Amino acid sequence: MKETKNVLITGVAGFIGSNLLDYLIENTDWTIVGYDNFSTGNKKNVSEHIQNKRFVFFEKNIDTITSLKEFDCVFHLAALPRIQPSFEFVKEHINENLVNAMHLIELMIKENYFPRFIFSSSSAIYGTPINIPTNEEEKIDCLSPYAFQKYEVEKYLELLSTRYPINYVNLRYFNPYGPRSFNPENKFNAYSSVVGIFLYRFKNKQKLLVTGDGEQKRDFIHVADLAKANYLAAIYNGKLNTSFNIGNGNTISVLELAKMITNEYEFIPKREGESEITFADITKAKEVLGWTSDKNLKDYILEKIK
Ligand SMILES: NC(=O)c1ccc[n+]([C@@H]2O[C@H](COP(=O)([O-])OP(=O)(O)OC[C@H]3O[C@@H](n4cnc5c(N)ncnc54)[C@H](O)[C@@H]3O)[C@@H](O)[C@H]2O)c1
Repeated sequence: MKETKNVLITGVAGFIGSNLLDYLIENTDWTIVGYDNFSTGNKKNVSEHIQNKRFVFFEKNIDTITSLKEFDCVFHLAALPRIQPSFEFVKEHINENLVNAMHLIELMIKENYFPRFIFSSSSAIYGTPINIPTNEEEKIDCLSPYAFQKYEVEKYLELLSTRYPINYVNLRYFNPYGPRSFNPENKFNAYSSVVGIFLYRFKNKQKLLVTGDGEQKRDFIHVADLAKANYLAAIYNGKLNTSFNIGNGNTISVLELAKMITNEYEFIPKREGESEITFADITKAKEVLGWTSDKNLKDYILEKIK
């Protein structure tokens, strides 16, 4: 019989958090506490589960959390997750992406209670990697404040776990796509996943905007596969204290992606601070967590544009 758990999802009303909530409601009997202040998330994303007795929602900033003692596992997703705004609103991003994570980590230390802490990290920490496909041993090369903040949290977890029995897992997501990836009301929506933006513009009969020459390549991973990786990291028996790449193990150019949707596209200037290529080596997650990426980007696109 599966062991039941009481878990916390921060950023539960965001793109990935709400898909993780769907996954855990459907595949477990766990009780789930969710926090979200709707800074970029959306009430609609969680409304389906609001009446569910297994889900307790707090519309609050995560810096108001005063104890983690009731939880077996913390999925920490709350963040301002966009590369370009992190260059402009630097202090706000440090606060959301680093200081708030440290608030939770420090709570574990103060309470001397260490639930499994599953941190949503990013392939952005590799910059433009030298080794393709890229494994977890790749040199870290943060090209943006956002990437650096993700790496700082990883590094703090590693450093602090030399002194305290912290029980953490870093999941380095590559380029997620899937339901709810594009929220038109999100103040930073222009920088959300290119799959979501392209499909939104296609649906609204607008030309797709391809940055640079479109030759930059991305490893697109369906959000349901990310949710499954979080679940497997939560149920792993034993301490991991390590990082996993969570990508599809494949790469395509942004221009190829645009062409998969429509021929109505145009080019706009390249954005600095973004990688030329992401392409995950997912051997470690397969071998250690027993995780696989099951969803196919082409199937998803064909379904959406028909
Ligand atoms: N989407 C991506 O391309 C991507 C790639 C790699 C990693 N990640 C990471 O995955 C996580 C989730 O990203 P997402 O795409 O779902 O983003 P999102 O913006 O859709 O979700 C983030 C959620 O956190 C909430 N939030 C932010 N600050 C908060 C605070 N202080 N208190 C309470 N709630 C707060 C927002 O309202 C939002 O609902 C982030 O940590 C992000 O860095 C995302």
